[in-house]
Amino acid sequence: MEIMIQETNKEKKVNMPRTLVKESAEKIGEKIRINGWIGARRDHGKIIFIDLKDISGALQVVFIPKDKELYKMAESLGLEFAVSIEGQINQRPEKMVNDKISTGKVEMLAEKLEILSKSENLPFELDADKEPNEGIRLEYRYLDLRREKMRENIFLRGRVIKFMRQYFWNEGFTEIETPLLTKSTPEGARDYIVPARLEQGKFYALPQSPQQYKQLLMVAQFEKYFQVARCLRDEDTRGDRQPEFTQFDVEMSFIEQEDIINLMENMLIELAKKETPEKHITKVPFPRITYKEAMEKYNSDKPDLRENKNDKNELAFCWIVDFPMFEWKETENRWDATHHPFTMPQEQDIEKIKKDPGKILAFQYDITLNGYEVGGGSIRSHKPEILEAVFETMGHTKENIQQKFGHLLKAFKFGVPPHGGIALGLDRLIMILRNEKSIRDVIAFPKTGDGRDLMMNAPSEVDDAQLKELNIKIVNKDKK
Ligand code: AMO
Repeated sequence: MEIMIQETNKEKKVNMPRTLVKESAEKIGEKIRINGWIGARRDHGKIIFIDLKDISGALQVVFIPKDKELYKMAESLGLEFAVSIEGQINQRPEKMVNDKISTGKVEMLAEKLEILSKSENLPFELDADKEPNEGIRLEYRYLDLRREKMRENIFLRGRVIKFMRQYFWNEGFTEIETPLLTKSTPEGARDYIVPARLEQGKFYALPQSPQQYKQLLMVAQFEKYFQVARCLRDEDTRGDRQPEFTQFDVEMSFIEQEDIINLMENMLIELAKKETPEKHITKVPFPRITYKEAMEKYNSDKPDLRENKNDKNELAFCWIVDFPMFEWKETENRWDATHHPFTMPQEQDIEKIKKDPGKILAFQYDITLNGYEVGGGSIRSHKPEILEAVFETMGHTKENIQQKFGHLLKAFKFGVPPHGGIALGLDRLIMILRNEKSIRDVIAFPKTGDGRDLMMNAPSEVDDAQLKELNIKIVNKDKK
């Protein structure tokens, strides 16, 4: 049974194939059909003008009172209605030409109109001068994403990822996915954990990064890996931090620090040229500063090296190298790895690692941009005895090492190649490329500062039945 719910002024349906509005400039004199949304409506005397927007742009459509039924429907059109319109493309009168848009020389004289769906009044204006408050933007994210700025952010994000993928494929890398349900990998944050239904009392950890898997892929002899990897860290959220974020994650075998730095640097230069040609990079090759120098000179391991901080098109990249391998954790009264324990100490002598941990440097590098850390990586310890010495220095017992990292040490017994890698924080990079202040503005569906998704209303309670199945009991519901 067919249910007709469309509202249309002529025959039941508009059948002509769809044309995107950007193509209308080349269709003068022709009849076409366009689909999209009402972006604006202006009534001038008896003539109704609307801007019909679709993925490719906007086109002015004119309704005149000659066809009464059509005109009456046009009068009912509200902002953001989804419609299909057929009509003739005409040249605009000279004084009506709008040079600012690609379809500004033409307009459509409407002949058929089909209202595909209506829209209620929006909770905020899409082109308001002042940005609506963030709570309401996040609650109605699908509307917020209709705003021009957000569209540009999301489109650029897609293009940046596409560029990087292509670049790495051209360099001989393979894209490989790694699991989300896994075991804890230390990156310095708290894990999100997922209860295992089939092994009650046990939990998976969501990955803070694909670190161990990408190293195991080197043992698996893939040699050059990359992944657009979602990472999950239960840490306090702020402008440049989300509990869920995306890394462009890379690992390579038989390489040195220099190879990774050069590869990433060349890629970033090409990326900026192609996707943000309006920007300029302050210094090429990117400056390299040791961690010690950075702290002494700038009191920061992510110094902002822009020459003119008011120039929104300046990109000041910088490599920070020679990080200390360990840092003293006062609260826990023990040494911790500055980056992560898989990093190779520059000191090969195991005894020294244990004797004077504070003095050991690591083959570890960060890349910073305009005062933000946009990436970090290292050459890895591929020798089991060094890796074990590092874990012991961090206060792990032998049993503990076996239990937590036995799988890695086992794998390293089977011809592990020397290897290293890096991960770029894509959200931060794109935030800076778009001159945004928060990574929330370059993520389609981000979380609030306190980790909530206001649109989906997550996190939320689950059914008792689900909890029962997992053998989980909420002890104190009100505890914050
Ligand atoms: P690291 O922990 O330094 O390294 O992360 C790499 C980059 O990811 C970005 N980043 C974040 N972005 C948004 N929100 C967050 N919560 C967040 N945390 C990190 C940063 C950072 O530079 N496995 C290693 C990489 C390696 O050694 O190859 C890692 O994850 O831009």
